[in-house]
Parts: sequence; structure tokens; C-alpha cells
Amino acid sequence: MAGITDSPFRLLCRRHGAAMVYTEMLSAEGLDRCHGKTWRMAAFREEERPVALQLFGSRPEAFAGAVKRCGELDPDCFDLNFGCPAPKVVRGGGGSILLRDPKAVASIAEAAVRAADRPVLAKIRSGWEIGSENAVEVARVLEGCGVAAIAVHGRTRAQMFSGSADWSVIARVKQSVSVPVIGNGDVRSAGDAARMVGQTGCDLVMVGRAAQGAPWIFSEINGALGGGKRGPLSGRPDWPQRAAVLGEHLRLMVEAKGEARGVLEMRKHMGWYVKALPGAARLRQELMKAETVTQVTEMLEEFGRSAERFPPPPPA
Ligand SMILES: Cc1cc2nc3c(=O)[nH]c(=O)nc-3n(C[C@H](O)[C@H](O)[C@H](O)COP(=O)(O)O)c2cc1C
Repeated sequence: MAGITDSPFRLLCRRHGAAMVYTEMLSAEGLDRCHGKTWRMAAFREEERPVALQLFGSRPEAFAGAVKRCGELDPDCFDLNFGCPAPKVVRGGGGSILLRDPKAVASIAEAAVRAADRPVLAKIRSGWEIGSENAVEVARVLEGCGVAAIAVHGRTRAQMFSGSADWSVIARVKQSVSVPVIGNGDVRSAGDAARMVGQTGCDLVMVGRAAQGAPWIFSEINGALGGGKRGPLSGRPDWPQRAAVLGEHLRLMVEAKGEARGVLEMRKHMGWYVKALPGAARLRQELMKAETVTQVTEMLEEFGRSAERFPPPPPA
């Protein structure tokens, strides 16, 4: 997720049971031209593996060039973004607008698969808008191009992130292709993940927003599905456990980006960690102003003294 799944957060998700992580979407043009900031965003730590490097763009040549250049970074696989609904990306001919043109999808996928010496995955939405859902057609095209797995987000581009995801499209794609299908959209608990697998037959479950401020969700899901790795926490974390994960995340951020930027970028994550906690409105406001690790630690300790009165949040 752009602006969210940087290296520290990916590492944390892996430690808490995620089977695989994806980079933020990265511009194929930027990587092909060795643009400094894009290149830095493509970096990852060994401990994150398996990691998929996700590319967005519109020109097949740029995808091929990016894939070749990124071989040097040695990601475990590449992922092609055919789902981003952001106006800026769509205006540039990338992300979900490509769903309207399966031939263009094929040109990009063929170019990337040909250039890559490792698996190439793809991520799609159900279609551009209600009435033109063509996920099955696009998935078949992708499979024909040699894509190794397909993630399906059950929303159209027109829906952006609103309404609810339609999992039936994931089931239809699963029935139509033989490569692994990764179900995505609105998995907010281990129960949701089990229901998605039950209803769609998908091979893997992809979790986006529900991992924000709750990376232990992957371990919970692995427990419910009876596979994968369990993280260090069992069950829903109470406040001290939650604060410990927040602290671990903060340390990783500061290690990767330095204290000033690390704490600044941690603010939104800290907001998510404390969002659902009773009595945490003031803590949240304070965390949004924090500038140093010491300040954050003091704020958490102060809240911890009062939080002892509160029971842990209910199970999912
Ligand atoms: C802030 C934000 C950034 C996102 N960035 C990306 C991205 O870079 N690449 C991508 O494939 N999907 C991206 N997504 C979409 C998610 O991966 C996912 O498909 C969507 O949120 C639905 O799944 P969820 O309900 O589990 O969050 C983003 C979503 C959000 C909210």
C-alpha cells in the first residue's frame, strides 16, 4: 500500500505471520530511469523475504526495463498493478484504467514476463465500473501471458474503496484460471479470512487496511486457516502487548529513517494502534504531535498507567 507498506512495516508484518509482503507500488518509468527516490523505495531487508516488488505504469517497454534493472535488487517476484484507482495514476494510463483494455494488459504482462528471470504476479480489480466487470477475462489474459498468480480485489475502479468488496468475483476468477488466486478486499479479521476462503476457494488471502495498527492479524489468520507461521502474540493483544508492538515498529522506523523522520512517519501508524482503545482519544492527539522517541515512550507509559483500568479489546 502506497505510503504505508515501507520496509519497517513490511518487516513487522512478516514477523507477525504474513506469508509474503509487497512493496508500495513503484513507477516502472522511475525504476527504468533509475530515479533516485523510486529506487530507494524499492529497497528491502533480507528478513522481509519473500517480497514482491510492485510496478505500475502504462508502457510495456518501461515495465521490461524496470524488471531488468530491478533484478539487481533481487526481489522474490514482481507484481503488476492493474488495480490502482488514484486519479493521478489513471490519468497517466496506469493502474485500474488498463482493465478497460485487456490488450494493453497483455502487452505489459508479456513484456514483464519476458524480461523477468523470476515469477511475475498481477493484481486486478473486478473491473472498471459496475456493468463492465471483466476480471475473469483479464485474469485469463494474464494467465495466458505467463503470470504466476493473480490477486483480485473485489471492487470496481468506480467504487474506489467505498461500499463493500464483492467476493463472488474472486470465486469466478478462481474457477476460470489454474494459477493461484489471491483474494482481497475487506478482510478485517481471522473470521473474514476463513469466510473468504470458504466462499471463494481462493488460495491465499491478501490483507491491506486491517493490518494498519494491527500487524498481528496475520498470525490470527494463520491460526484460523490452520497454516503459515504464528507470530509472537497469541490471541488479541492487550494494551502492554499492543504498546510493545508499537514500540518495535517505532524502533524499526527510526533505524531505517532516523529519529525526526521516523517519528513523523510513525504518527499515522500510532494513530491506528490506539484508534479503537477506550479512553485513548487524548493519547492519540498527543501522539500526533510527538517528535522524539522519548516523548512517545512517555506518552505510552502515562497512558499505560491509566489503561490498567481498561479491559483488552474484544476478540475479532
Ligand atoms: C492508502 C492505500 C494505499 C494503497 N496502495 C496500494 C498499492 O500501492 N498497490 C496495490 O496493489 N494496492 C494498494 N492499495 C489497495 C490495497 O492493496 C487493497 O487492494 C485494498 O485496500 C482492499 O483491501 P483491504 O480491504 O484489505 O484494505 C492501497 C490501499 C490504500 C487504502
